[in-house]
Amino acid sequence: MIFRGFWDKLDWPVVALSPMDGVTDAAFRYIVCKYSKPAFTMTEFTNVEGLSRGAVQMLVAFLYDESERPVIAQLYGVEVGSYYKATLMMCALGFDGVDINMGCPANKVAKKGSGAGLIRTPELAREIIRSCKKASKDWSNGMTLEEAEVPEGMIKRIAEMNVERAIGRDPIAISVKTRVGYDEKIGAEWTKIILEEEPANISMHGRTLKQMYMGQADWEEIAKCAEVCKGSGVTLIGNGDVMSMDDARGKIKDYGVDGILVGRAVFGNPWFFGEGEPTVEDRKRVALDHCRRFAEADYAPFHNIRKHLAWYCKGFEGCRELRMKLMQTHGIEDVEKLLG
Ligand SMILES: Cc1cc2nc3c(=O)[nH]c(=O)nc-3n(C[C@H](O)[C@H](O)[C@H](O)COP(=O)(O)O)c2cc1C
Repeated sequence: MIFRGFWDKLDWPVVALSPMDGVTDAAFRYIVCKYSKPAFTMTEFTNVEGLSRGAVQMLVAFLYDESERPVIAQLYGVEVGSYYKATLMMCALGFDGVDINMGCPANKVAKKGSGAGLIRTPELAREIIRSCKKASKDWSNGMTLEEAEVPEGMIKRIAEMNVERAIGRDPIAISVKTRVGYDEKIGAEWTKIILEEEPANISMHGRTLKQMYMGQADWEEIAKCAEVCKGSGVTLIGNGDVMSMDDARGKIKDYGVDGILVGRAVFGNPWFFGEGEPTVEDRKRVALDHCRRFAEADYAPFHNIRKHLAWYCKGFEGCRELRMKLMQTHGIEDVEKLLG
């Protein structure tokens, strides 16, 4: 029996927010869930080796709000033992699931064998899935972070992050997000390999590592992966270049996927998962709301929010000038003056 946890409770087919490093931080995910509701959310990917060695500052990626549930923590790396410890930490932080990144094409990630690099080492990829599943099971059987030798500083910080949360002992679901190949499209073959380890879900981006983010996502290739998963009990979510909810619904129908992950189309568009178009006033109001949330949480330097502010400024008269002014702001007070 495949353990699917929250995945079994979703209203399929699903449309959800794709994880994006430097974009889908806690403030942005909160704002997206406030103005339209994706089926689930996922954190930015975070390195398991750093987490298992005690890099306390990395835990900032795992701040989340209850309104985001189901919320998944995304991990990347190569060390099987580090995945074990990191998954236990995610259980202890109350996440609904852990997703293993097997799709990142960035040199600093894939060249070390992690992210999309794992497509070239299927045995290691399988071992990693097993390790995460074991951690989740061990957690439900009472394993503690101390017993797993998680560094003391991490245990302390996790306890601080949990003050307002009752954390249970239920196992959490393990999923994989990947691409259709490394340099060639081998979607069906690669999907079969992952399926052997029975993750709860596979999210498939229709580009190879070599393509990075260029060219078009190949939805015919994604459809082949979905076909492989049919009847297995593992869901397959397609990803790549989806521009609207109508587009998402059409692709679900045309390519036989169980759902869609949407990334870049949600830039400056937290209304994406709902109906209707935002007005200019909505754009300004929500940009300010987003900025306030980010500033209050105070977990990252102010300049991180500027790109978001710029993304809200499109499609109205004077948006270019406003965007330029927002790019020169240094704190919430400056933004209040422009948008308040
Ligand atoms: C800025 C940026 C950061 C990303 N970071 C991640 C990440 O942390 N984890 C991940 O699995 N994918 C990451 N991706 C890939 C996206 O989740 C998604 O697979 C890709 O953008 C294709 O979907 P889209 O065409 O809807 O944007 C990132 C993409 C972008 C543009």
